[in-house]
Amino acid sequence: MRIAVIPGDGIGVDVTAEAVKVLRAAGQVFGTPLDLEMLPYGADYYLQTGISLPPNGYAMLRDDFDAIYIGALGDPRIPDMRHARDILLGTRFELDLYVNHRPVKLLDARLCPLKNRGPKDVNFVVFRENTEGLYVNIGGRFKAGTEDEIAIQEEINTFKGVHRIVKHAFEHAKTHGLTKVCMADKSNAMTQGHALWQRVFWDLATQYAGIEATHLYVDALTMQMVKNPGQFQVIVTNNMFGDIVTDLGAQLQGGLGLAASGNLHPGRTSMFEPVHGSAPKYAGKNVANPVGAILSAALMLEYLGLSNEAAAIEAAVKDAVVGGQGTAEIGGTLGTRETGDYIANAITSKRR
Ligand code: IPM
Ligand code: MN
Repeated sequence: MRIAVIPGDGIGVDVTAEAVKVLRAAGQVFGTPLDLEMLPYGADYYLQTGISLPPNGYAMLRDDFDAIYIGALGDPRIPDMRHARDILLGTRFELDLYVNHRPVKLLDARLCPLKNRGPKDVNFVVFRENTEGLYVNIGGRFKAGTEDEIAIQEEINTFKGVHRIVKHAFEHAKTHGLTKVCMADKSNAMTQGHALWQRVFWDLATQYAGIEATHLYVDALTMQMVKNPGQFQVIVTNNMFGDIVTDLGAQLQGGLGLAASGNLHPGRTSMFEPVHGSAPKYAGKNVANPVGAILSAALMLEYLGLSNEAAAIEAAVKDAVVGGQGTAEIGGTLGTRETGDYIANAITSKRR
């Protein structure tokens, strides 16, 4: 397996080192060769060279690797976030990674901000459409900078785009023995674009007899995620709503530091990254929580068909988190590196 690793900026560098450590431990224990190639792209590279990625960068990532792993991108020296958009959103769009797979899984009741909720109440997955919606950057500004300014940002919904993400959500439910899929849109206000989501969702629902299909407007979804998260197994929604509800989901599982994600095009080279950003003020301080990064690495292995390796990482993470062996923001006393060591050792010390 050949994996491109882009640690990126800020704490992305810190947490990626731990994800790499854990990947190596899992590879070693299971005798799975993982060829991790470190790539330098990020703020420093952009400032030195003036480019985010080389001209053939996306094709190289797509054709030369089985998967791509990214730490985090964003640096105060590049206020317009140009390089971050090119690398992160660019990879999503250029490689057509249409599924943003974001698990919301509480490992320990102690970490949930909701009263009297435990791991059985917070265990679902959000599928966020990842290649269209409000993220296509179609629009323009007229009379910019004046009091007559008009700013237009179009939302694109295509039959192909909506169909493939909704289908992916149903297929995931079917193949994982899940019985419920909830679609969230804003079709009561956005009566054009989101009518397409309605049509496609209810149409596909008829093809999945054993799965209960439900719908919530996205405002009601956020309310229900807080009120009764246990009702959800699979949520599917558009790009922007998915961005917002997965930050909410991250908090339900104990914070952004724990949240993992995969940007997928099933059957093609896909990209994995923790949900959190580069948090420049914590960079290099050995305080960032590497768990979201490590769980993203596990998601990557699972996607690559290495489910035993992935399960071993997930089990080791769960033991560490439940045992209080983690960083300060989840109540532990360990640093970034020590958390990574603890999880890697737990994997290597278990004989299989
Ligand atoms: C995410 C991030 C990105 C997004 C930003 C950095 C453009 O918030 O991955 O959730 O909005 O998709
Ligand atoms: Mn986000």
